[in-house]
Amino acid sequence: MKTRTLLSLFALLSLSLVSCVKDNVDVRNIVYTDDEYAAISTVLNLPNDRVSFEVSLPQHMKNLGMTPPAISDAKATLGRVLFYDKQLSRNLSVSCASCHQQDLAFADSKRFSEGFNGELTLRNSLALGSVANFKSSYEGGSTFNGQQQFFFWDERAHSIQEQSALTLQDNIEMGMDLNDLCQRLSEEEYYRVLFRKAYGTDVIQPALVTEALQEFVNAIVSTSTRFDEGISSVNGDPFRNFPNYTQAENMGRNLFVQHCSSCHGANMSISPEKVANNGLDEVYGDEGVGGITNQLEDIGKFKVPFLRNIALTAPYMHDGRFATLEEVVEHYNSGIKMSSNLDFRLRNGDGSAPLRLNLTQQEKDALVAFLNTLTDEALVTANRFSDPFK
Ligand code: HEC
Ligand code: HEC
Repeated sequence: MKTRTLLSLFALLSLSLVSCVKDNVDVRNIVYTDDEYAAISTVLNLPNDRVSFEVSLPQHMKNLGMTPPAISDAKATLGRVLFYDKQLSRNLSVSCASCHQQDLAFADSKRFSEGFNGELTLRNSLALGSVANFKSSYEGGSTFNGQQQFFFWDERAHSIQEQSALTLQDNIEMGMDLNDLCQRLSEEEYYRVLFRKAYGTDVIQPALVTEALQEFVNAIVSTSTRFDEGISSVNGDPFRNFPNYTQAENMGRNLFVQHCSSCHGANMSISPEKVANNGLDEVYGDEGVGGITNQLEDIGKFKVPFLRNIALTAPYMHDGRFATLEEVVEHYNSGIKMSSNLDFRLRNGDGSAPLRLNLTQQEKDALVAFLNTLTDEALVTANRFSDPFK
């Protein structure tokens, strides 16, 4: 008891000594002066035990030739604040996080999301936090691991920076003028500090705002699911039984490899197909990629979404038409609709009719059980991705 009191007294003393000597606060390599940290701390909770935004990949991803994005902590910290700030919408009502909630793997639970004016978005919010995002760190080049990687359901944005600029100005989502936004942020002392740390200037410009957002989104990478644990213990081979899976989960993994992986990827890291028509409709009201390219063969094609954290991101598809994973599996089992653009992998042998998998109930349950192993608890609870506002 006595030693403990003495010790804490000593700790207190040395703490006050340090703050006398030091005129700045080190939050793990981002060095703030006392005044700067005080300005930040009036509104933000950027704790001293902040972990770095560095992304490290498990061996099975490295074996695929993937390299992690190089994240600047100062930019990602700024991006995190911007991501959660409602000042980014015209009437201060929504932030990025309103439609991309951490506990839902950065998607939301609605078919369509509510924008700044209460109007609904035209499509279902996309989950963030997939390795697919890497591409955008490779500025200029439009390929990642030899593949194109674009954003939105119709892939109309070529980087997250471009996506962010479109979203900020979208008249349903955030309705913001980018110059007004910079003006608004410049009036906040804490933003001037954060921009100085990230960019060495507090002259706030649209490209810096969107780049910081991109840096934060790029840092959100899912690497620790039961799938990663399983594939790591079988030398990265998704075709082998995973020792940490139940029998049903392994059955589901097998069915997935057989029927789904040609588009979604067997390794949950690289999707072999970027866009496809998966037979949701015979006639498409929302033309997807076709609406952007004006090519007949693109009508009804949409981004092949990553399935990490899929259990958290209901409802499903670009229009959120399926409420549950059971409904999704039933779609692939018996509900695929024919159209001239229906992907050949979802047709019968001679291509004349949609594929019917005729799965048993046990097989359907197994597929759902497998999809439920893709949840990354660490990602959806990590402090570094959470709301920093007090
Ligand atoms: C009002 C809801 C809403 C807000 C606010 C919002 N988003 Fe989104 N986000 C969506 C929807 C809906 C989509 C899919 C839109 C589409 O594909 O047409 C989407 C798509 C995205 C994508 C593409 C993901 C992919 O895999 O292609 C990214 C990245 C993203 N949002 C990031 C952000 C960022 C950063 C912000 C803040 C600047 C933001 N979003 C604000 C609803 C929202
Ligand atoms: C031909 C390529 C292709 C195949 C094969 C395929 N999918 Fe898909 N999948 C897609 C596309 C494209 C979408 C998005 C379609 C849309 O929203 O319009 C999608 C969407 C999904 C979604 C919803 C994702 C979300 O975020 O809303 C799930 C879940 C899914 N697929 C699971 C499966 C399963 C399970 C199988 C195998 C039984 C499978 N897919 C086979 C292309 C494919």
